[in-house]
Amino acid sequence: MIIAIDGPSGAGKSTLGKMLAKKLDLLYLDTGAMYRAVALRVVRQKIDLKNNEQVAGAAEAARIELTGEPDSLQIVLDGSDVSAEIRTLDIAQAASIVSTNSNVRRVMVDHQRQIGQSAAKGCVLEGRDIGSVVFPNADIKFFLTAKPEARARRRFEEDKAKGRISTYEQTLAEINERDERDVSREDSPLTIADDAVVIDTSELDLSEVFAQMLSAVRVAKGERPDSGDEPNVHRVLFVI
Ligand code: DC
Repeated sequence: MIIAIDGPSGAGKSTLGKMLAKKLDLLYLDTGAMYRAVALRVVRQKIDLKNNEQVAGAAEAARIELTGEPDSLQIVLDGSDVSAEIRTLDIAQAASIVSTNSNVRRVMVDHQRQIGQSAAKGCVLEGRDIGSVVFPNADIKFFLTAKPEARARRRFEEDKAKGRISTYEQTLAEINERDERDVSREDSPLTIADDAVVIDTSELDLSEVFAQMLSAVRVAKGERPDSGDEPNVHRVLFVI
């Protein structure tokens, strides 16, 4: 089974994707982490982010592996764990730029398809182009969204909890900048697939969104929408 989750930054894709993967015993693939790993490689090699040829070369040469359980996913770049390093604001911005490079996207999409297809029980993939490009025939597609203010609020609270210094206004400006780049790039812009289940998470709490997603998955599998128990949400923060 392939479950595609797309949407803008801060809509809850990672948190909910991990919860679904755990509940359904599927592999979890954070495709944004792969673009972040390429960005880290480019920055480490001091390549100009706008130098398309060199950036594509760095993506082609990168060895990116994602290992471990959804909650403790490790991103390994060229043999070393970069899980923490790829989460900085600088790398988020750099990832947003390298992800506009068509050759980088081609390499990432190939890799993502291979991982998804070889997952024994199936895979939950989250990103921006999963339902539209990577797996257009996914068993179920979700598009999670939320108002920029709600996404910035969640991201700001998460940053604060991690001790990062920023302001709500700064966070909102960054979210708006990344949204703009994600929806306006030429290759695979963030779009809602025709057959996606769209959920606006602005006013919903985590358990409500999770319940809606689980019901939709069960319907896609030909099961009753309400079968099974409730999600275990109390240990999970509503952030990505
Ligand atoms: O989800 P994230 O913030 O970790 O993603 C980092 C960047 O990668 C983001 O700016 C959009 C881009 N991205 C993409 O273009 N396609 C994907 N499938 C996943 C992420």
